[in-house]
Amino acid sequence: MSSVNITGTGMYIPAQIVTNEDMKRFVDTSDEWIVQRTGIRERHFSQGEPNWYMGVQAAKQAVGNAGVDPKEIDVIISCSITPDYFYPTIACTVQDELGADNAFCWNMEAACSGFIYALDVARSYLAVGSAKTVLIVCSENMSKSLDFTDRSTCVLFGDGAAAAVVQKGDGLYASCMGSDGRTGAALLARALPLDTPFATEKDDPKYAKYMEANDPYLKMNGRAVYRFTAHAIPNMVTGACERAGIQVEDLDLIVPHQANLRIIETAAERLHVPMEKMYVNIDRYANTSCASVPICLAELVADGRLKRGDKIALAGFGGGLTCGAVVFEW
Ligand code: ACO
Repeated sequence: MSSVNITGTGMYIPAQIVTNEDMKRFVDTSDEWIVQRTGIRERHFSQGEPNWYMGVQAAKQAVGNAGVDPKEIDVIISCSITPDYFYPTIACTVQDELGADNAFCWNMEAACSGFIYALDVARSYLAVGSAKTVLIVCSENMSKSLDFTDRSTCVLFGDGAAAAVVQKGDGLYASCMGSDGRTGAALLARALPLDTPFATEKDDPKYAKYMEANDPYLKMNGRAVYRFTAHAIPNMVTGACERAGIQVEDLDLIVPHQANLRIIETAAERLHVPMEKMYVNIDRYANTSCASVPICLAELVADGRLKRGDKIALAGFGGGLTCGAVVFEW
Protein backbone atom coordinates (compact mmCIF):
# COMPACT_ATOMS: atom_id res chain seq x y z
CA MET A 1 0.00 0.00 0.00
CA SER A 2 1.22 3.51 -0.72
CA SER A 3 1.66 5.18 2.65
CA VAL A 4 3.57 7.98 4.31
CA ASN A 5 6.84 7.86 6.18
CA ILE A 6 7.40 10.82 8.49
CA THR A 7 11.18 10.99 8.42
CA GLY A 8 11.70 14.18 10.43
CA THR A 9 9.74 16.30 12.90
CA GLY A 10 10.44 19.61 14.57
CA MET A 11 8.73 22.14 16.78
CA TYR A 12 9.09 25.67 18.04
CA ILE A 13 7.34 26.92 21.14
CA PRO A 14 7.74 30.57 22.19
CA ALA A 15 9.54 30.89 25.54
CA GLN A 16 6.88 33.02 27.23
CA ILE A 17 4.69 30.87 29.53
CA VAL A 18 1.31 32.27 30.52
CA THR A 19 -0.41 30.39 33.34
CA ASN A 20 -4.11 30.29 34.19
CA GLU A 21 -3.30 32.58 37.12
CA ASP A 22 -1.82 35.08 34.65
CA MET A 23 -5.07 35.05 32.63
CA LYS A 24 -6.92 36.32 35.72
CA ARG A 25 -5.31 39.68 35.02
CA PHE A 26 -7.53 40.07 31.96
CA VAL A 27 -10.76 38.17 32.62
CA ASP A 28 -12.91 36.92 35.47
CA THR A 29 -11.74 33.31 35.54
CA SER A 30 -9.93 30.83 37.77
CA ASP A 31 -7.33 28.10 37.45
CA GLU A 32 -9.93 25.68 38.81
CA TRP A 33 -12.52 26.50 36.11
CA ILE A 34 -10.01 26.28 33.28
CA VAL A 35 -8.44 23.02 34.49
CA GLN A 36 -11.78 21.33 35.20
CA ARG A 37 -13.47 22.37 31.95
CA THR A 38 -10.50 22.06 29.60
CA GLY A 39 -7.42 20.44 31.18
CA ILE A 40 -5.33 23.52 30.28
CA ARG A 41 -2.83 24.71 32.90
CA GLU A 42 -0.65 27.02 30.85
CA ARG A 43 0.03 28.14 27.29
CA HIS A 44 2.92 29.83 25.48
CA PHE A 45 2.40 33.20 23.79
CA SER A 46 4.67 34.78 21.21
CA GLN A 47 6.97 37.44 22.62
CA GLY A 48 6.87 39.22 19.31
CA GLU A 49 8.37 36.60 17.04
CA PRO A 50 6.34 36.51 13.82
CA ASN A 51 4.39 33.45 12.81
CA TRP A 52 6.65 32.73 9.83
CA TYR A 53 9.70 32.77 12.12
CA MET A 54 8.19 30.08 14.34
CA GLY A 55 7.38 28.00 11.27
CA VAL A 56 10.91 28.36 9.92
CA GLN A 57 12.48 27.21 13.21
CA ALA A 58 10.23 24.13 13.30
CA ALA A 59 10.91 23.42 9.62
CA LYS A 60 14.71 23.66 10.03
CA GLN A 61 14.56 21.17 12.89
CA ALA A 62 12.36 18.75 10.94
CA VAL A 63 14.57 18.91 7.84
CA GLY A 64 17.70 18.46 9.98
CA ASN A 65 16.19 15.46 11.76
CA ALA A 66 15.15 13.91 8.45
CA GLY A 67 18.68 14.39 7.12
CA VAL A 68 17.45 15.77 3.81
CA ASP A 69 19.05 18.54 1.79
CA PRO A 70 16.53 21.41 1.49
CA LYS A 71 17.10 21.27 -2.29
CA GLU A 72 15.51 17.78 -2.26
CA ILE A 73 12.17 19.15 -1.01
CA ASP A 74 9.60 19.04 -3.81
CA VAL A 75 6.61 20.60 -2.04
CA ILE A 76 6.15 22.81 1.02
CA ILE A 77 2.62 23.03 2.40
CA SER A 78 2.02 25.50 5.20
CA CYS A 79 -1.10 25.62 7.32
CA SER A 80 -2.11 28.59 9.40
CA ILE A 81 -5.22 30.53 10.34
CA THR A 82 -3.08 33.28 11.86
CA PRO A 83 -0.53 34.23 9.19
CA ASP A 84 1.44 37.47 9.28
CA TYR A 85 0.54 38.13 5.66
CA PHE A 86 -2.06 36.77 3.26
CA TYR A 87 0.90 36.55 0.90
CA PRO A 88 3.68 35.64 0.63
CA THR A 89 2.52 32.46 2.31
CA ILE A 90 4.47 30.98 5.20
CA ALA A 91 5.34 28.11 2.84
CA CYS A 92 7.13 30.51 0.46
CA THR A 93 8.92 32.23 3.34
CA VAL A 94 10.05 28.85 4.68
CA GLN A 95 11.31 28.02 1.19
CA ASP A 96 13.37 31.20 1.14
CA GLU A 97 14.79 30.75 4.64
CA LEU A 98 15.70 27.10 4.04
CA GLY A 99 16.98 27.54 0.51
CA ALA A 100 14.50 24.91 -0.69
CA ASP A 101 14.78 26.31 -4.20
CA ASN A 102 13.27 23.32 -6.00
CA ALA A 103 10.02 23.24 -4.08
CA PHE A 104 6.63 24.61 -5.02
CA CYS A 105 4.94 26.12 -2.02
CA TRP A 106 1.41 26.88 -0.97
CA ASN A 107 -0.78 27.39 2.05
CA MET A 108 -3.81 25.32 2.88
CA GLU A 109 -6.55 26.36 5.25
CA ALA A 110 -8.56 23.82 7.15
CA ALA A 111 -8.17 25.51 10.54
CA CYS A 112 -7.26 23.06 13.28
CA SER A 113 -7.62 20.06 10.94
CA GLY A 114 -4.82 21.52 8.77
CA PHE A 115 -2.08 19.00 9.49
CA ILE A 116 -4.40 16.03 8.93
CA TYR A 117 -5.58 17.40 5.58
CA ALA A 118 -2.04 18.38 4.55
CA LEU A 119 -0.72 14.90 5.35
CA ASP A 120 -3.43 13.37 3.18
CA VAL A 121 -2.55 15.74 0.32
CA ALA A 122 1.16 14.93 0.79
CA ARG A 123 0.35 11.22 0.57
CA SER A 124 -1.45 11.85 -2.74
CA TYR A 125 1.56 13.67 -4.20
CA LEU A 126 3.83 10.85 -3.06
CA ALA A 127 1.50 8.12 -4.30
CA VAL A 128 1.21 9.49 -7.84
CA GLY A 129 4.91 10.24 -7.96
CA SER A 130 4.70 14.00 -8.36
CA ALA A 131 6.85 14.43 -5.23
CA LYS A 132 9.38 12.43 -3.27
CA THR A 133 9.78 14.76 -0.32
CA VAL A 134 7.07 16.98 1.15
CA LEU A 135 7.54 19.42 4.03
CA ILE A 136 4.46 20.36 6.07
CA VAL A 137 4.74 23.42 8.31
CA CYS A 138 1.99 24.30 10.77
CA SER A 139 2.44 27.57 12.58
CA GLU A 140 -0.04 29.48 14.70
CA ASN A 141 0.06 32.76 16.51
CA MET A 142 -3.38 32.32 18.06
CA SER A 143 -2.74 34.98 20.71
CA LYS A 144 -3.16 37.77 18.17
CA SER A 145 -6.61 36.53 17.23
CA LEU A 146 -7.86 36.46 20.80
CA ASP A 147 -10.19 38.96 22.42
CA PHE A 148 -8.65 39.30 25.88
CA THR A 149 -11.97 40.53 27.28
CA ASP A 150 -13.81 37.32 26.30
CA ARG A 151 -13.19 34.70 28.98
CA SER A 152 -14.96 31.98 27.04
CA THR A 153 -12.28 31.97 24.31
CA CYS A 154 -9.07 33.73 25.41
CA VAL A 155 -8.11 31.08 27.96
CA LEU A 156 -8.30 28.23 25.44
CA PHE A 157 -5.53 28.92 22.94
CA GLY A 158 -1.74 29.10 22.69
CA ASP A 159 1.00 29.79 20.15
CA GLY A 160 3.42 27.32 18.58
CA ALA A 161 4.66 25.69 15.41
CA ALA A 162 5.61 22.24 14.22
CA ALA A 163 6.78 20.67 10.99
CA ALA A 164 7.14 17.24 9.43
CA VAL A 165 9.12 15.87 6.48
CA VAL A 166 6.96 13.32 4.69
CA GLN A 167 8.28 10.70 2.28
CA LYS A 168 6.74 7.61 0.74
CA GLY A 169 6.09 4.66 3.02
CA ASP A 170 4.79 1.19 2.34
CA GLY A 171 2.73 0.31 5.41
CA LEU A 172 -1.02 0.63 5.73
CA TYR A 173 -2.65 4.00 5.23
CA ALA A 174 -6.22 5.29 5.22
CA SER A 175 -7.92 8.58 5.81
CA CYS A 176 -11.44 9.69 6.59
CA MET A 177 -12.37 13.36 6.22
CA GLY A 178 -15.52 15.36 6.66
CA SER A 179 -16.73 18.91 6.86
CA ASP A 180 -19.96 20.53 7.98
CA GLY A 181 -20.39 24.01 6.55
CA ARG A 182 -23.83 24.18 8.15
CA THR A 183 -22.19 24.74 11.53
CA GLY A 184 -19.59 27.16 10.17
CA ALA A 185 -20.84 29.99 12.37
CA ALA A 186 -19.71 28.08 15.47
CA LEU A 187 -16.11 29.22 14.89
CA LEU A 188 -15.57 32.53 13.15
CA ALA A 189 -12.80 35.02 12.45
CA ARG A 190 -13.30 37.62 9.79
CA ALA A 191 -10.88 38.71 7.08
CA LEU A 192 -10.55 42.19 5.57
CA PRO A 193 -13.95 43.79 5.14
CA LEU A 194 -14.86 45.35 1.82
CA ASP A 195 -14.29 49.08 2.25
CA THR A 196 -13.23 50.94 -0.88
CA PRO A 197 -14.09 54.26 -2.56
CA PHE A 198 -16.56 52.22 -4.61
CA ALA A 199 -18.31 50.08 -2.08
CA THR A 200 -18.71 49.36 1.58
CA GLU A 201 -19.66 45.93 2.72
CA LYS A 202 -23.38 45.44 3.14
CA ASP A 203 -24.51 43.46 6.10
CA ASP A 204 -23.45 39.91 5.31
CA PRO A 205 -26.64 37.94 5.90
CA LYS A 206 -24.71 34.80 6.73
CA TYR A 207 -22.08 35.59 9.35
CA ALA A 208 -22.09 39.34 10.15
CA LYS A 209 -24.79 38.92 12.76
CA TYR A 210 -22.31 37.02 14.94
CA MET A 211 -19.83 39.90 15.27
CA GLU A 212 -19.33 43.62 15.29
CA ALA A 213 -18.19 45.15 12.02
CA ASN A 214 -14.39 45.10 11.70
CA ASP A 215 -13.97 42.85 14.72
CA PRO A 216 -11.09 40.57 13.70
CA TYR A 217 -11.12 38.34 16.79
CA LEU A 218 -11.99 34.68 17.08
CA LYS A 219 -15.63 34.00 17.97
CA MET A 220 -16.78 30.63 19.16
CA ASN A 221 -19.95 28.89 20.20
CA GLY A 222 -18.17 26.44 22.50
CA ARG A 223 -21.14 24.14 23.02
CA ALA A 224 -21.82 23.81 19.27
CA VAL A 225 -18.16 22.93 18.63
CA TYR A 226 -18.25 20.49 21.52
CA ARG A 227 -21.32 18.72 20.11
CA PHE A 228 -19.65 18.46 16.69
CA THR A 229 -16.40 17.06 18.06
CA ALA A 230 -18.06 14.54 20.36
CA HIS A 231 -19.03 12.62 17.21
CA ALA A 232 -16.36 13.83 14.80
CA ILE A 233 -13.27 12.26 16.38
CA PRO A 234 -14.80 8.81 17.04
CA ASN A 235 -16.47 8.70 13.61
CA MET A 236 -13.35 9.78 11.69
CA VAL A 237 -11.01 7.42 13.56
CA THR A 238 -13.43 4.51 13.18
CA GLY A 239 -13.91 5.33 9.48
CA ALA A 240 -10.17 5.49 8.82
CA CYS A 241 -9.61 2.19 10.66
CA GLU A 242 -12.35 0.51 8.62
CA ARG A 243 -10.76 1.71 5.39
CA ALA A 244 -7.34 0.51 6.61
CA GLY A 245 -8.84 -2.89 7.40
CA ILE A 246 -7.96 -2.79 11.10
CA GLN A 247 -9.88 -2.53 14.37
CA VAL A 248 -9.66 0.57 16.55
CA GLU A 249 -8.21 -1.67 19.28
CA ASP A 250 -5.29 -2.48 16.94
CA LEU A 251 -4.11 1.14 17.19
CA ASP A 252 -1.06 1.64 19.38
CA LEU A 253 -1.69 5.37 19.79
CA ILE A 254 -4.22 8.05 18.92
CA VAL A 255 -3.01 11.64 18.60
CA PRO A 256 -6.06 13.90 18.80
CA HIS A 257 -6.23 17.64 18.25
CA GLN A 258 -5.65 19.27 21.64
CA ALA A 259 -8.69 21.49 22.15
CA ASN A 260 -10.15 20.18 25.38
CA LEU A 261 -9.19 17.26 27.63
CA ARG A 262 -12.89 16.43 28.11
CA ILE A 263 -13.32 16.09 24.34
CA ILE A 264 -10.35 13.69 24.26
CA GLU A 265 -11.75 11.68 27.18
CA THR A 266 -15.17 11.47 25.52
CA ALA A 267 -13.53 10.29 22.29
CA ALA A 268 -11.60 7.60 24.20
CA GLU A 269 -14.82 6.40 25.82
CA ARG A 270 -16.70 6.26 22.54
CA LEU A 271 -13.82 4.47 20.82
CA HIS A 272 -13.45 2.07 23.78
CA VAL A 273 -9.74 2.78 24.09
CA PRO A 274 -7.92 3.48 27.36
CA MET A 275 -6.69 7.04 27.96
CA GLU A 276 -3.09 5.73 27.91
CA LYS A 277 -3.52 5.37 24.15
CA MET A 278 -4.59 9.01 23.75
CA TYR A 279 -1.65 11.43 23.61
CA VAL A 280 -2.30 14.54 25.70
CA ASN A 281 -0.22 17.70 26.14
CA ILE A 282 -3.00 20.29 26.28
CA ASP A 283 -2.06 21.06 29.90
CA ARG A 284 1.18 22.70 28.68
CA TYR A 285 0.28 24.30 25.35
CA ALA A 286 -3.53 24.78 25.25
CA ASN A 287 -5.03 24.71 21.76
CA THR A 288 -2.43 25.64 19.13
CA SER A 289 -4.84 25.00 16.26
CA CYS A 290 -3.23 23.19 13.30
CA ALA A 291 0.13 23.00 15.13
CA SER A 292 -1.29 20.86 17.93
CA VAL A 293 -1.11 17.42 16.29
CA PRO A 294 2.41 17.86 14.80
CA ILE A 295 3.65 19.29 18.13
CA CYS A 296 2.45 16.04 19.71
CA LEU A 297 4.29 14.07 17.03
CA ALA A 298 7.51 16.04 17.53
CA GLU A 299 7.31 15.39 21.28
CA LEU A 300 6.60 11.69 20.79
CA VAL A 301 9.60 11.36 18.47
CA ALA A 302 11.88 13.32 20.80
CA ASP A 303 10.79 11.09 23.70
CA GLY A 304 11.42 7.93 21.66
CA ARG A 305 7.82 6.82 22.14
CA LEU A 306 7.13 5.84 18.54
CA LYS A 307 8.52 2.63 17.07
CA ARG A 308 8.59 1.85 13.38
CA GLY A 309 5.52 -0.25 12.62
CA ASP A 310 3.36 1.27 15.37
CA LYS A 311 -0.18 1.82 14.13
CA ILE A 312 -1.23 5.37 14.89
CA ALA A 313 -4.24 7.56 14.23
CA LEU A 314 -4.07 11.34 13.97
CA ALA A 315 -7.39 13.12 14.39
CA GLY A 316 -8.33 16.77 14.04
CA PHE A 317 -11.30 19.10 13.93
CA GLY A 318 -11.71 22.81 13.63
CA GLY A 319 -13.17 25.86 11.95
CA GLY A 320 -15.30 25.31 8.90
CA LEU A 321 -16.27 23.10 10.59
CA THR A 322 -13.78 20.49 9.41
CA CYS A 323 -12.65 17.17 10.78
CA GLY A 324 -10.57 14.22 9.71
CA ALA A 325 -8.37 11.31 10.73
CA VAL A 326 -5.50 9.43 9.14
CA VAL A 327 -4.34 5.98 10.18
CA PHE A 328 -0.90 4.72 9.21
CA GLU A 329 2.07 2.71 10.36
CA TRP A 330 4.88 4.78 11.83
N1 ACO B 1 -13.72 31.18 33.43
C1 ACO B 1 -14.79 31.10 34.25
N2 ACO B 1 -16.03 30.92 33.80
C2 ACO B 1 -16.19 30.83 32.47
C3 ACO B 1 -15.13 30.91 31.57
C4 ACO B 1 -13.85 31.10 32.11
N3 ACO B 1 -12.75 31.16 31.33
N4 ACO B 1 -15.61 30.77 30.31
C5 ACO B 1 -16.94 30.61 30.42
N5 ACO B 1 -17.30 30.65 31.72
C6 ACO B 1 -18.62 30.53 32.30
C7 ACO B 1 -19.71 30.89 31.33
O1 ACO B 1 -19.90 32.27 31.30
C8 ACO B 1 -20.88 30.15 31.91
O2 ACO B 1 -21.39 30.90 32.98
P1 ACO B 1 -22.98 31.01 33.22
O3 ACO B 1 -23.43 29.61 33.49
O4 ACO B 1 -23.07 31.92 34.38
O5 ACO B 1 -23.53 31.55 31.94
C9 ACO B 1 -20.26 28.89 32.50
O6 ACO B 1 -18.85 29.16 32.62
C10 ACO B 1 -20.46 27.66 31.65
O7 ACO B 1 -20.12 27.99 30.31
P2 ACO B 1 -20.21 26.92 29.18
O8 ACO B 1 -19.88 27.58 27.88
O9 ACO B 1 -21.49 26.19 29.28
O10 ACO B 1 -19.04 25.94 29.60
P3 ACO B 1 -18.68 24.56 28.99
O11 ACO B 1 -18.69 23.53 30.04
O12 ACO B 1 -19.43 24.27 27.71
O13 ACO B 1 -17.16 24.79 28.57
C11 ACO B 1 -15.80 25.23 26.63
C12 ACO B 1 -16.83 25.78 27.61
C13 ACO B 1 -14.56 24.85 27.41
C14 ACO B 1 -15.46 26.28 25.61
C15 ACO B 1 -16.38 23.95 25.96
O14 ACO B 1 -17.66 24.22 25.46
C16 ACO B 1 -15.52 23.48 24.84
O15 ACO B 1 -14.40 23.02 25.03
N6 ACO B 1 -16.01 23.52 23.59
C17 ACO B 1 -15.23 23.12 22.44
C18 ACO B 1 -14.26 24.20 22.15
C19 ACO B 1 -13.26 23.83 21.10
O16 ACO B 1 -12.96 22.68 20.90
N7 ACO B 1 -12.75 24.84 20.45
C20 ACO B 1 -11.77 24.79 19.48
C21 ACO B 1 -12.08 23.89 18.34
S1 ACO B 1 -11.47 24.34 16.81
C22 ACO B 1 -10.11 25.10 16.97
O17 ACO B 1 -9.26 24.53 17.61
C23 ACO B 1 -9.92 26.47 16.34
